[in-house]
Amino acid sequence: MTQTKGGVIVTGAARGIGRAIAEHAARDGYGVVIADIDEAAGGTAADAITAAGGQAISCRIDVTDRETVKAAIGACEEAYGVLYGMINNAGFNKPMPFLETTEDNWTAILRVNGLGVLIGMQEAGKAMIAAGTRGRIISTASMAGRTGFGDFAPYCASKAAVISLTQAAAKTLAPHGITVNAFGPGVVDTELWVTLDQDLMEMGATSRPGQAMQEFSAGIPLGRVSVPEDVVGTVDFLLSPASAYMTGQCLMIDGGMIMQ
Ligand SMILES: NC(=O)c1ccc[n+]([C@@H]2O[C@H](COP(=O)([O-])OP(=O)(O)OC[C@H]3O[C@@H](n4cnc5c(N)ncnc54)[C@H](O)[C@@H]3O)[C@@H](O)[C@H]2O)c1
Repeated sequence: MTQTKGGVIVTGAARGIGRAIAEHAARDGYGVVIADIDEAAGGTAADAITAAGGQAISCRIDVTDRETVKAAIGACEEAYGVLYGMINNAGFNKPMPFLETTEDNWTAILRVNGLGVLIGMQEAGKAMIAAGTRGRIISTASMAGRTGFGDFAPYCASKAAVISLTQAAAKTLAPHGITVNAFGPGVVDTELWVTLDQDLMEMGATSRPGQAMQEFSAGIPLGRVSVPEDVVGTVDFLLSPASAYMTGQCLMIDGGMIMQ
């Protein structure tokens, strides 16, 4: 077993926001589990962290499959002795016009972005209680959880669900000293937007590459879209002792797009 500040599992960490979170957690001295459905990319991300001097392993999980989540927690405990942090970050979007949104679209998105987060919270909570760990559960919400967008209503509902689940889990786990918080990015330049851009063009909602991000970003008070590095500081804080008296909250990191 390697000496670390404890294990932190990051779901959806093979790329994008999750990968940046994992890299920072490793730099902060946590042992990291890259938990992603894309096994090859997850392995590459873990290798890069190890090459940079951090502690990382990778684990193929599907956040909607409870057994794979349990297995990732077992691998974390075996590698690092304890599960200290669970970052429920995996998620996706598939836009459809509101009036034509299908049951299948709703089910697929709510399954990964909603149920996947519930399972992550439950299994991490149970493992932390069993080990007596005053751990941290942190989930990736979105500005879309605080407002509606007609072309991706199920995604908005799924991110509102992340905020509600955060509050429910925070109340349930507070007596055990486990805190549960979320953070809500705005527009982050990752591969998620590559797919979204293509889907919105196919839908006829936009007519040229890059238009979707450009239109979404117009009027961001801080004047630019974000990159994964813009959100990791908040996650560092949520993992750190500085946030010990905070639970059930969702911190927006969206350049000021949604102010509530
Ligand atoms: N990019 C943005 O603008 C933005 C804004 C707000 C919130 N978010 C949220 O941030 C999170 C990360 O987004 P990103 O932009 O880094 O996306 P991304 O598409 O670059 O990365 C998502 C990762 O999740 C993994 N994944 C997908 N389904 C999975 C499953 N069922 N089980 C395990 N892993 C799975 C993918 O393989 C991928 O590695 C998502 O929850 C997303 O909704 C993104």
